[in-house]
Amino acid sequence: MEINLFDKELKEWEGEMLIWCVHNTNLEDQLEAISPKLEPNKILEKFKSQRFKGNKQDYLILNLMGINIETIIFVGVGNLEEIDSETIRNATSLSIRNSKAPSEKIGIFIPPNISEDLELSKVACESIWLSLFKDNRFKKESDEKSFCNTIDLISKIEIDQSSLNEIDAICSGVEFARELVAEPPNSLTPAEMAKRASKIAKDSNISIKILDKKSCEAMGMGAYLAVAKGSDLDPKFIHLTIKPSGEINHKLVMIGKGLTFDSGGYNLKVGAAQIEMMKYDMGGSAAVLGAAKALGKLKPKNIEIHFIIASCENMINGSAVHPGDIVTASNGKTIEINNTDAEGRLTLADAICYANKIRPDAIIDLATLTGACVIALGNEIAGLWSNNKDLSEELQTASKIKGEDLWEMPLKETYKEGLKSSLADLKNTGPRGGGSITAALFLKEFVDKDIPWAHLDIAGTCWTDKAQGINPAGATGFGVRTLVQWVLNKN
Ligand code: BES
Ligand code: MN
Ligand code: ZN
Repeated sequence: MEINLFDKELKEWEGEMLIWCVHNTNLEDQLEAISPKLEPNKILEKFKSQRFKGNKQDYLILNLMGINIETIIFVGVGNLEEIDSETIRNATSLSIRNSKAPSEKIGIFIPPNISEDLELSKVACESIWLSLFKDNRFKKESDEKSFCNTIDLISKIEIDQSSLNEIDAICSGVEFARELVAEPPNSLTPAEMAKRASKIAKDSNISIKILDKKSCEAMGMGAYLAVAKGSDLDPKFIHLTIKPSGEINHKLVMIGKGLTFDSGGYNLKVGAAQIEMMKYDMGGSAAVLGAAKALGKLKPKNIEIHFIIASCENMINGSAVHPGDIVTASNGKTIEINNTDAEGRLTLADAICYANKIRPDAIIDLATLTGACVIALGNEIAGLWSNNKDLSEELQTASKIKGEDLWEMPLKETYKEGLKSSLADLKNTGPRGGGSITAALFLKEFVDKDIPWAHLDIAGTCWTDKAQGINPAGATGFGVRTLVQWVLNKN
Protein backbone atom coordinates (compact mmCIF):
# COMPACT_ATOMS: atom_id res chain seq x y z
CA MET A 1 0.00 0.00 0.00
CA GLU A 2 1.16 3.47 -0.81
CA ILE A 3 0.03 6.58 1.03
CA ASN A 4 0.25 9.88 -0.81
CA LEU A 5 -0.52 13.41 0.11
CA PHE A 6 -2.80 15.10 -2.43
CA ASP A 7 -2.42 18.75 -1.51
CA LYS A 8 -4.48 20.28 -4.31
CA GLU A 9 -8.18 21.06 -4.22
CA LEU A 10 -10.64 18.22 -3.75
CA LYS A 11 -12.24 19.29 -7.03
CA GLU A 12 -9.12 18.13 -8.83
CA TRP A 13 -8.87 14.67 -7.30
CA GLU A 14 -9.51 11.64 -9.50
CA GLY A 15 -9.82 8.06 -8.40
CA GLU A 16 -12.18 5.18 -7.87
CA MET A 17 -13.49 5.84 -4.40
CA LEU A 18 -13.63 8.92 -2.27
CA ILE A 19 -14.39 8.73 1.44
CA TRP A 20 -15.70 12.09 2.58
CA CYS A 21 -16.11 12.74 6.28
CA VAL A 22 -18.96 15.20 6.77
CA HIS A 23 -19.76 16.96 10.04
CA ASN A 24 -23.30 17.80 11.01
CA THR A 25 -23.40 21.57 10.46
CA ASN A 26 -23.67 23.49 7.16
CA LEU A 27 -23.81 20.54 4.80
CA GLU A 28 -24.27 22.97 1.96
CA ASP A 29 -21.06 24.85 2.73
CA GLN A 30 -19.14 21.63 3.01
CA LEU A 31 -20.30 20.54 -0.42
CA GLU A 32 -18.72 23.63 -1.94
CA ALA A 33 -15.47 21.70 -1.98
CA ILE A 34 -16.85 19.43 -4.65
CA SER A 35 -16.59 19.88 -8.39
CA PRO A 36 -19.65 21.72 -9.80
CA LYS A 37 -19.80 18.92 -12.37
CA LEU A 38 -21.09 16.71 -9.58
CA GLU A 39 -24.00 19.03 -8.98
CA PRO A 40 -23.79 19.72 -5.26
CA ASN A 41 -27.46 20.74 -5.23
CA LYS A 42 -28.55 17.30 -6.27
CA ILE A 43 -26.30 15.74 -3.68
CA LEU A 44 -27.85 17.97 -1.05
CA GLU A 45 -31.28 16.74 -2.09
CA LYS A 46 -30.04 13.20 -1.84
CA PHE A 47 -28.78 13.93 1.69
CA LYS A 48 -32.29 15.10 2.58
CA SER A 49 -34.15 12.22 1.02
CA GLN A 50 -31.78 9.66 2.57
CA ARG A 51 -31.79 11.47 5.93
CA PHE A 52 -28.03 11.91 5.81
CA LYS A 53 -27.27 14.60 8.38
CA GLY A 54 -23.57 14.12 8.99
CA ASN A 55 -24.20 12.50 12.34
CA LYS A 56 -22.01 9.63 13.50
CA GLN A 57 -23.01 6.33 11.86
CA ASP A 58 -24.66 8.15 8.95
CA TYR A 59 -23.36 7.15 5.58
CA LEU A 60 -24.42 7.49 2.01
CA ILE A 61 -22.93 5.76 -0.98
CA LEU A 62 -23.13 7.62 -4.26
CA ASN A 63 -22.26 5.74 -7.41
CA LEU A 64 -21.39 8.17 -10.17
CA MET A 65 -20.93 7.32 -13.76
CA GLY A 66 -18.76 8.97 -16.34
CA ILE A 67 -17.10 11.21 -13.80
CA ASN A 68 -13.52 11.23 -12.56
CA ILE A 69 -14.63 9.67 -9.28
CA GLU A 70 -16.59 6.41 -9.44
CA THR A 71 -17.97 6.28 -5.93
CA ILE A 72 -18.27 8.77 -3.12
CA ILE A 73 -18.98 7.54 0.37
CA PHE A 74 -20.23 10.31 2.59
CA VAL A 75 -19.80 9.39 6.20
CA GLY A 76 -20.92 11.39 9.21
CA VAL A 77 -18.54 12.47 11.94
CA GLY A 78 -20.99 14.41 14.12
CA ASN A 79 -20.10 17.69 15.82
CA LEU A 80 -17.09 19.41 14.34
CA GLU A 81 -15.77 20.40 17.77
CA GLU A 82 -15.93 16.88 19.12
CA ILE A 83 -14.13 15.02 16.37
CA ASP A 84 -11.37 12.86 17.84
CA SER A 85 -9.35 9.84 16.73
CA GLU A 86 -12.12 7.46 17.65
CA THR A 87 -14.59 9.40 15.50
CA ILE A 88 -12.29 9.29 12.49
CA ARG A 89 -11.40 5.65 13.06
CA ASN A 90 -15.06 4.64 13.31
CA ALA A 91 -16.18 6.70 10.30
CA THR A 92 -13.44 5.50 7.96
CA SER A 93 -13.69 1.84 8.96
CA LEU A 94 -17.48 1.98 8.63
CA SER A 95 -17.07 3.29 5.09
CA ILE A 96 -14.75 0.50 4.05
CA ARG A 97 -16.88 -2.17 5.70
CA ASN A 98 -19.97 -1.04 3.83
CA SER A 99 -18.43 -0.59 0.43
CA LYS A 100 -16.89 -2.69 -2.22
CA ALA A 101 -13.28 -1.67 -1.91
CA PRO A 102 -11.79 -0.49 -5.18
CA SER A 103 -8.96 -2.16 -6.96
CA GLU A 104 -6.72 0.84 -7.09
CA LYS A 105 -7.13 4.12 -5.35
CA ILE A 106 -9.05 5.52 -2.40
CA GLY A 107 -9.13 9.18 -1.51
CA ILE A 108 -9.86 10.34 2.01
CA PHE A 109 -11.16 13.82 2.68
CA ILE A 110 -11.76 15.01 6.21
CA PRO A 111 -13.00 18.51 7.06
CA PRO A 112 -10.12 20.91 6.29
CA ASN A 113 -9.70 22.29 9.81
CA ILE A 114 -9.61 18.72 11.14
CA SER A 115 -7.23 17.38 8.53
CA GLU A 116 -4.66 19.92 9.69
CA ASP A 117 -4.34 17.80 12.81
CA LEU A 118 -1.48 15.45 11.96
CA GLU A 119 -2.62 12.76 14.38
CA LEU A 120 -6.14 12.62 12.93
CA SER A 121 -4.82 12.43 9.40
CA LYS A 122 -2.55 9.57 10.42
CA VAL A 123 -5.45 7.82 12.10
CA ALA A 124 -7.56 8.10 8.94
CA CYS A 125 -4.89 6.51 6.74
CA GLU A 126 -4.08 3.79 9.25
CA SER A 127 -7.73 2.95 9.73
CA ILE A 128 -8.46 2.72 6.00
CA TRP A 129 -5.39 0.58 5.38
CA LEU A 130 -6.20 -1.86 8.18
CA SER A 131 -9.92 -2.02 7.38
CA LEU A 132 -9.10 -3.04 3.81
CA PHE A 133 -7.11 -6.08 4.91
CA LYS A 134 -8.03 -9.35 3.23
CA ASP A 135 -6.36 -12.71 3.61
CA ASN A 136 -6.39 -14.66 0.37
CA ARG A 137 -3.29 -16.75 1.02
CA PHE A 138 -5.07 -20.03 1.28
CA LYS A 139 -7.45 -19.73 -1.64
CA LYS A 140 -6.67 -21.16 -5.04
CA GLU A 141 -8.92 -18.66 -6.67
CA SER A 142 -9.63 -15.55 -4.71
CA ASP A 143 -12.78 -13.58 -5.35
CA GLU A 144 -10.81 -10.39 -5.57
CA LYS A 145 -7.98 -10.41 -8.01
CA SER A 146 -6.66 -6.98 -7.27
CA PHE A 147 -6.51 -4.83 -4.21
CA CYS A 148 -6.52 -1.21 -3.41
CA ASN A 149 -2.90 -0.13 -3.56
CA THR A 150 -3.04 3.61 -2.99
CA ILE A 151 -4.56 5.87 -0.36
CA ASP A 152 -4.58 9.58 -1.17
CA LEU A 153 -4.83 11.88 1.81
CA ILE A 154 -6.57 14.92 0.36
CA SER A 155 -5.35 17.68 2.61
CA LYS A 156 -3.27 20.82 2.84
CA ILE A 157 -1.47 19.44 5.83
CA GLU A 158 2.30 19.29 5.89
CA ILE A 159 2.96 15.66 6.49
CA ASP A 160 6.60 14.64 6.52
CA GLN A 161 8.09 11.44 5.19
CA SER A 162 8.72 10.11 8.70
CA SER A 163 4.99 10.23 9.50
CA LEU A 164 4.25 8.35 6.29
CA ASN A 165 6.95 5.81 7.15
CA GLU A 166 5.41 5.38 10.57
CA ILE A 167 1.98 4.55 9.13
CA ASP A 168 3.56 2.17 6.67
CA ALA A 169 5.62 0.39 9.31
CA ILE A 170 2.76 0.06 11.78
CA CYS A 171 0.19 -1.18 9.27
CA SER A 172 2.64 -3.64 7.77
CA GLY A 173 3.35 -4.89 11.27
CA VAL A 174 -0.35 -5.36 12.02
CA GLU A 175 -0.91 -7.18 8.72
CA PHE A 176 2.02 -9.42 9.44
CA ALA A 177 0.61 -10.26 12.87
CA ARG A 178 -2.87 -10.93 11.45
CA GLU A 179 -1.43 -13.32 8.90
CA LEU A 180 0.52 -15.23 11.52
CA VAL A 181 -2.51 -15.52 13.79
CA ALA A 182 -4.81 -16.78 11.02
CA GLU A 183 -2.27 -19.21 9.63
CA PRO A 184 -3.24 -22.79 10.41
CA PRO A 185 -1.12 -24.92 12.73
CA ASN A 186 0.00 -27.32 10.00
CA SER A 187 1.60 -24.37 8.30
CA LEU A 188 2.77 -22.14 11.12
CA THR A 189 4.83 -24.51 13.27
CA PRO A 190 7.42 -23.43 15.85
CA ALA A 191 10.16 -23.95 13.24
CA GLU A 192 8.24 -21.85 10.74
CA MET A 193 7.76 -19.13 13.33
CA ALA A 194 11.54 -19.08 13.81
CA LYS A 195 11.94 -18.74 10.04
CA ARG A 196 9.56 -15.80 9.87
CA ALA A 197 11.41 -14.12 12.73
CA SER A 198 14.70 -14.70 10.90
CA LYS A 199 13.26 -13.02 7.85
CA ILE A 200 12.37 -9.95 9.91
CA ALA A 201 15.90 -9.93 11.31
CA LYS A 202 17.40 -10.17 7.84
CA ASP A 203 15.14 -7.53 6.28
CA SER A 204 15.75 -4.99 9.02
CA ASN A 205 19.32 -5.92 9.70
CA ILE A 206 18.73 -6.72 13.37
CA SER A 207 20.18 -9.64 15.28
CA ILE A 208 18.46 -12.90 16.10
CA LYS A 209 19.24 -15.91 18.27
CA ILE A 210 17.24 -19.11 18.01
CA LEU A 211 17.71 -21.63 20.79
CA ASP A 212 16.87 -25.22 19.93
CA LYS A 213 15.64 -27.84 22.38
CA LYS A 214 19.16 -28.79 23.48
CA SER A 215 20.14 -25.23 24.29
CA CYS A 216 16.93 -24.73 26.24
CA GLU A 217 17.65 -27.91 28.18
CA ALA A 218 21.12 -26.64 28.95
CA MET A 219 19.55 -23.47 30.32
CA GLY A 220 17.24 -25.50 32.54
CA MET A 221 13.97 -24.35 30.95
CA GLY A 222 12.02 -27.23 32.45
CA ALA A 223 8.64 -25.48 32.48
CA TYR A 224 8.73 -24.48 28.83
CA LEU A 225 10.11 -27.82 27.67
CA ALA A 226 7.47 -29.75 29.61
CA VAL A 227 4.81 -28.17 27.39
CA ALA A 228 6.69 -29.08 24.20
CA LYS A 229 7.22 -32.74 25.25
CA GLY A 230 3.97 -34.07 23.79
CA SER A 231 4.58 -32.74 20.29
CA ASP A 232 6.46 -34.27 17.38
CA LEU A 233 7.65 -30.76 16.57
CA ASP A 234 10.67 -29.34 18.33
CA PRO A 235 10.31 -26.13 20.31
CA LYS A 236 12.07 -22.99 19.13
CA PHE A 237 13.05 -20.23 21.51
CA ILE A 238 13.32 -17.00 19.54
CA HIS A 239 15.17 -13.85 20.58
CA LEU A 240 15.40 -10.80 18.31
CA THR A 241 17.32 -7.68 19.32
CA ILE A 242 17.22 -4.14 18.03
CA LYS A 243 20.30 -2.37 19.32
CA PRO A 244 21.05 1.04 17.86
CA SER A 245 24.57 2.34 17.99
CA GLY A 246 25.26 5.19 20.38
CA GLU A 247 23.80 5.88 23.77
CA ILE A 248 21.05 3.58 25.08
CA ASN A 249 18.46 5.36 27.24
CA HIS A 250 15.91 2.55 27.46
CA LYS A 251 16.21 -1.19 27.43
CA LEU A 252 12.90 -2.94 26.80
CA VAL A 253 11.71 -6.52 26.52
CA MET A 254 8.55 -7.77 24.83
CA ILE A 255 7.57 -11.40 25.33
CA GLY A 256 4.84 -13.16 23.36
CA LYS A 257 3.08 -16.43 24.11
CA GLY A 258 3.83 -18.60 21.11
CA LEU A 259 1.72 -21.76 21.22
CA THR A 260 1.26 -22.62 17.54
CA PHE A 261 -1.44 -25.00 18.73
CA ASP A 262 -2.96 -25.65 22.15
CA SER A 263 -4.89 -28.90 22.33
CA GLY A 264 -4.91 -28.65 26.11
CA GLY A 265 -2.64 -31.67 26.43
CA TYR A 266 -4.03 -34.50 28.60
CA ASN A 267 -6.44 -31.94 30.02
CA LEU A 268 -7.77 -32.00 26.49
CA LYS A 269 -10.00 -29.18 25.31
CA VAL A 270 -13.47 -30.65 25.01
CA GLY A 271 -17.01 -29.32 24.70
CA ALA A 272 -17.35 -25.59 24.24
CA ALA A 273 -13.59 -24.99 24.34
CA GLN A 274 -13.29 -24.57 20.53
CA ILE A 275 -10.13 -26.59 20.16
CA GLU A 276 -10.01 -25.81 16.42
CA MET A 277 -9.47 -22.13 17.16
CA MET A 278 -6.37 -22.78 19.23
CA LYS A 279 -4.14 -21.97 16.28
CA TYR A 280 -4.44 -18.41 17.50
CA ASP A 281 -2.75 -19.26 20.76
CA MET A 282 0.33 -17.59 19.34
CA GLY A 283 -1.45 -14.21 19.17
CA GLY A 284 0.93 -12.74 21.73
CA SER A 285 4.00 -13.72 19.76
CA ALA A 286 2.38 -12.48 16.55
CA ALA A 287 1.92 -9.06 18.17
CA VAL A 288 5.52 -9.09 19.35
CA LEU A 289 6.83 -10.06 15.91
CA GLY A 290 4.56 -7.49 14.26
CA ALA A 291 6.03 -4.87 16.57
CA ALA A 292 9.53 -6.13 15.76
CA LYS A 293 8.82 -5.78 12.06
CA ALA A 294 7.52 -2.23 12.51
CA LEU A 295 10.23 -1.11 14.94
CA GLY A 296 12.91 -2.79 12.84
CA LYS A 297 11.92 -0.40 10.07
CA LEU A 298 11.53 2.66 12.28
CA LYS A 299 14.68 2.04 14.34
CA PRO A 300 13.86 4.48 17.16
CA LYS A 301 16.95 6.20 18.51
CA ASN A 302 18.60 5.30 21.82
CA ILE A 303 16.25 2.40 22.57
CA GLU A 304 17.33 -1.22 22.81
CA ILE A 305 14.47 -3.66 22.33
CA HIS A 306 14.36 -7.41 22.82
CA PHE A 307 11.61 -9.62 21.39
CA ILE A 308 11.30 -13.05 22.99
CA ILE A 309 9.14 -16.03 22.11
CA ALA A 310 9.20 -19.48 23.67
CA SER A 311 7.41 -21.20 20.83
CA CYS A 312 6.02 -24.74 20.86
CA GLU A 313 2.88 -26.88 20.56
CA ASN A 314 0.78 -28.31 23.38
CA MET A 315 -0.05 -31.83 22.16
CA ILE A 316 -0.50 -35.38 23.36
CA ASN A 317 1.67 -38.43 22.87
CA GLY A 318 3.41 -41.03 25.02
CA SER A 319 6.01 -38.56 26.21
CA ALA A 320 3.60 -35.73 26.90
CA VAL A 321 3.56 -34.15 30.31
CA HIS A 322 1.16 -35.88 32.75
CA PRO A 323 -1.29 -33.91 34.80
CA GLY A 324 0.47 -33.98 38.15
CA ASP A 325 4.04 -33.79 36.90
CA ILE A 326 6.43 -31.55 38.80
CA VAL A 327 8.89 -29.56 36.70
CA THR A 328 11.63 -27.03 37.42
CA ALA A 329 11.84 -23.65 35.69
CA SER A 330 15.18 -22.07 34.84
CA ASN A 331 15.20 -19.97 38.02
CA GLY A 332 15.00 -23.17 40.09
CA LYS A 333 11.35 -22.82 41.10
CA THR A 334 9.37 -26.04 41.01
CA ILE A 335 5.86 -26.22 39.55
CA GLU A 336 3.23 -28.89 39.99
CA ILE A 337 1.34 -29.05 36.71
CA ASN A 338 -2.16 -29.72 37.98
CA ASN A 339 -3.60 -28.79 34.60
CA THR A 340 -1.77 -29.30 31.30
CA ASP A 341 -4.07 -26.80 29.64
CA ALA A 342 -2.55 -23.94 31.62
CA GLU A 343 0.52 -24.29 29.41
CA GLY A 344 1.03 -20.67 28.34
CA ARG A 345 2.19 -19.56 31.76
CA LEU A 346 4.71 -22.43 31.85
CA THR A 347 6.31 -21.29 28.61
CA LEU A 348 6.20 -17.65 29.74
CA ALA A 349 7.79 -18.47 33.09
CA ASP A 350 11.03 -19.52 31.40
CA ALA A 351 10.82 -16.69 28.89
CA ILE A 352 10.53 -14.22 31.77
CA CYS A 353 13.51 -15.78 33.60
CA TYR A 354 15.51 -15.36 30.40
CA ALA A 355 14.35 -11.73 30.10
CA ASN A 356 15.36 -10.94 33.70
CA LYS A 357 18.97 -11.66 32.81
CA ILE A 358 18.94 -8.88 30.22
CA ARG A 359 18.29 -6.47 33.15
CA PRO A 360 15.79 -4.39 31.15
CA ASP A 361 13.93 -1.25 32.25
CA ALA A 362 10.65 -2.98 31.49
CA ILE A 363 9.23 -6.35 30.51
CA ILE A 364 5.87 -6.60 28.77
CA ASP A 365 4.32 -9.92 27.96
CA LEU A 366 1.34 -10.49 25.68
CA ALA A 367 -0.54 -13.76 25.82
CA THR A 368 -3.80 -15.43 24.88
CA LEU A 369 -3.60 -16.69 28.41
CA THR A 370 -7.03 -17.37 29.86
CA GLY A 371 -10.63 -18.01 28.92
CA ALA A 372 -11.39 -16.26 32.21
CA CYS A 373 -10.18 -12.97 30.75
CA VAL A 374 -12.58 -13.38 27.84
CA ILE A 375 -15.42 -13.93 30.31
CA ALA A 376 -14.39 -10.85 32.29
CA LEU A 377 -13.70 -8.35 29.50
CA GLY A 378 -15.13 -9.84 26.32
CA ASN A 379 -13.89 -9.43 22.82
CA GLU A 380 -12.87 -5.79 22.65
CA ILE A 381 -10.84 -5.19 25.79
CA ALA A 382 -7.58 -6.80 26.83
CA GLY A 383 -6.67 -7.29 30.49
CA LEU A 384 -3.67 -5.42 31.86
CA TRP A 385 -1.75 -6.39 34.99
CA SER A 386 1.36 -4.63 36.18
CA ASN A 387 3.67 -4.38 39.17
CA ASN A 388 4.48 -0.78 38.24
CA LYS A 389 2.17 2.22 38.07
CA ASP A 390 4.25 4.22 35.59
CA LEU A 391 4.51 1.35 33.15
CA SER A 392 0.81 0.65 33.41
CA GLU A 393 0.05 4.30 32.67
CA GLU A 394 2.44 4.38 29.73
CA LEU A 395 0.69 1.41 28.20
CA GLN A 396 -2.74 2.87 28.77
CA THR A 397 -1.67 6.13 27.15
CA ALA A 398 -0.31 4.29 24.10
CA SER A 399 -3.37 2.08 23.81
CA LYS A 400 -5.73 5.07 23.99
CA ILE A 401 -3.90 6.79 21.13
CA LYS A 402 -4.27 3.67 19.02
CA GLY A 403 -7.80 2.73 20.07
CA GLU A 404 -6.83 -0.67 21.42
CA ASP A 405 -8.74 -1.00 24.67
CA LEU A 406 -7.00 -2.11 27.85
CA TRP A 407 -8.47 -2.46 31.29
CA GLU A 408 -6.26 -2.65 34.35
CA MET A 409 -6.96 -5.66 36.55
CA PRO A 410 -5.80 -6.30 40.10
CA LEU A 411 -2.81 -8.37 41.17
CA LYS A 412 -4.61 -9.36 44.35
CA GLU A 413 -1.86 -10.84 46.49
CA THR A 414 -4.10 -13.01 48.66
CA TYR A 415 -5.21 -14.91 45.56
CA LYS A 416 -1.70 -16.39 45.47
CA GLU A 417 -3.05 -18.75 48.09
CA GLY A 418 -4.81 -20.55 45.23
CA LEU A 419 -1.48 -21.43 43.62
CA LYS A 420 -0.05 -23.15 46.69
CA SER A 421 1.09 -26.72 46.17
CA SER A 422 1.71 -29.17 48.99
CA LEU A 423 4.67 -30.63 47.11
CA ALA A 424 6.15 -27.98 44.83
CA ASP A 425 6.80 -24.24 45.11
CA LEU A 426 3.70 -23.51 43.01
CA LYS A 427 0.82 -25.14 41.16
CA ASN A 428 0.15 -23.86 37.66
CA THR A 429 -3.58 -23.31 38.20
CA GLY A 430 -5.74 -22.04 41.00
CA PRO A 431 -9.51 -22.06 41.50
CA ARG A 432 -11.90 -21.22 38.67
CA GLY A 433 -12.91 -17.82 40.04
CA GLY A 434 -10.49 -15.03 39.16
CA GLY A 435 -8.66 -17.32 36.74
CA SER A 436 -7.06 -14.51 34.77
CA ILE A 437 -5.79 -12.95 38.00
CA THR A 438 -4.13 -16.11 39.34
CA ALA A 439 -2.58 -16.58 35.89
CA ALA A 440 -1.05 -13.09 36.14
CA LEU A 441 0.08 -13.79 39.72
CA PHE A 442 1.75 -16.96 38.52
CA LEU A 443 3.75 -14.98 35.93
CA LYS A 444 4.68 -12.35 38.50
CA GLU A 445 6.42 -15.06 40.55
CA PHE A 446 9.05 -15.27 37.80
CA VAL A 447 9.73 -11.55 37.33
CA ASP A 448 12.70 -10.10 39.24
CA LYS A 449 11.19 -7.89 41.94
CA ASP A 450 12.89 -4.68 40.81
CA ILE A 451 11.93 -4.91 37.13
CA PRO A 452 8.77 -3.09 35.98
CA TRP A 453 6.58 -5.67 34.29
CA ALA A 454 3.21 -5.68 32.59
CA HIS A 455 1.11 -8.54 31.31
CA LEU A 456 -1.58 -8.21 28.63
CA ASP A 457 -4.10 -11.02 28.36
CA ILE A 458 -5.29 -10.83 24.76
CA ALA A 459 -7.29 -14.09 24.70
CA GLY A 460 -10.45 -12.17 23.81
CA THR A 461 -9.05 -9.50 21.54
CA CYS A 462 -6.73 -11.36 19.22
CA TRP A 463 -9.55 -12.80 17.11
CA THR A 464 -13.01 -11.54 16.13
CA ASP A 465 -15.74 -13.65 14.55
CA LYS A 466 -17.39 -10.62 12.99
CA ALA A 467 -15.95 -7.46 11.45
CA GLN A 468 -15.55 -4.82 14.13
CA GLY A 469 -14.07 -1.32 13.75
CA ILE A 470 -10.84 -1.53 11.82
CA ASN A 471 -10.80 -5.32 12.11
CA PRO A 472 -12.29 -7.45 9.36
CA ALA A 473 -13.55 -10.80 10.69
CA GLY A 474 -10.65 -12.98 11.81
CA ALA A 475 -7.28 -12.12 13.28
CA THR A 476 -6.99 -8.58 14.62
CA GLY A 477 -3.26 -8.14 15.14
CA PHE A 478 -4.17 -6.71 18.55
CA GLY A 479 -1.24 -5.32 20.48
CA VAL A 480 1.09 -4.32 17.65
CA ARG A 481 -0.05 -0.72 17.56
CA THR A 482 0.03 -0.26 21.32
CA LEU A 483 3.51 -1.77 21.58
CA VAL A 484 4.91 0.39 18.80
CA GLN A 485 3.24 3.54 20.15
CA TRP A 486 4.57 2.78 23.62
CA VAL A 487 8.13 2.64 22.28
CA LEU A 488 7.73 5.72 20.06
CA ASN A 489 6.39 7.71 23.03
CA LYS A 490 9.74 7.22 24.77
CA ASN A 491 11.49 9.58 22.35
N1 BES B 1 -4.98 -20.70 25.28
C1 BES B 1 -5.82 -20.90 26.39
C2 BES B 1 -6.65 -19.67 26.76
C3 BES B 1 -7.70 -19.25 25.77
C4 BES B 1 -9.00 -19.64 25.95
C5 BES B 1 -7.41 -18.39 24.76
C6 BES B 1 -9.99 -19.22 25.09
C7 BES B 1 -8.38 -17.95 23.88
C8 BES B 1 -9.68 -18.36 24.05
C9 BES B 1 -5.01 -21.28 27.61
O1 BES B 1 -3.87 -22.02 27.36
C10 BES B 1 -5.89 -22.12 28.47
O2 BES B 1 -6.24 -23.18 28.04
N2 BES B 1 -6.22 -21.64 29.65
C11 BES B 1 -7.08 -22.34 30.52
C12 BES B 1 -6.54 -22.18 31.92
C13 BES B 1 -7.23 -23.06 32.92
C14 BES B 1 -6.86 -24.50 32.67
C15 BES B 1 -6.81 -22.63 34.28
C16 BES B 1 -8.46 -21.74 30.41
O3 BES B 1 -8.58 -20.53 30.29
O4 BES B 1 -9.42 -22.49 30.39
MN1 MN C 1 -4.28 -24.09 27.24
ZN1 ZN D 1 -3.02 -21.77 25.53
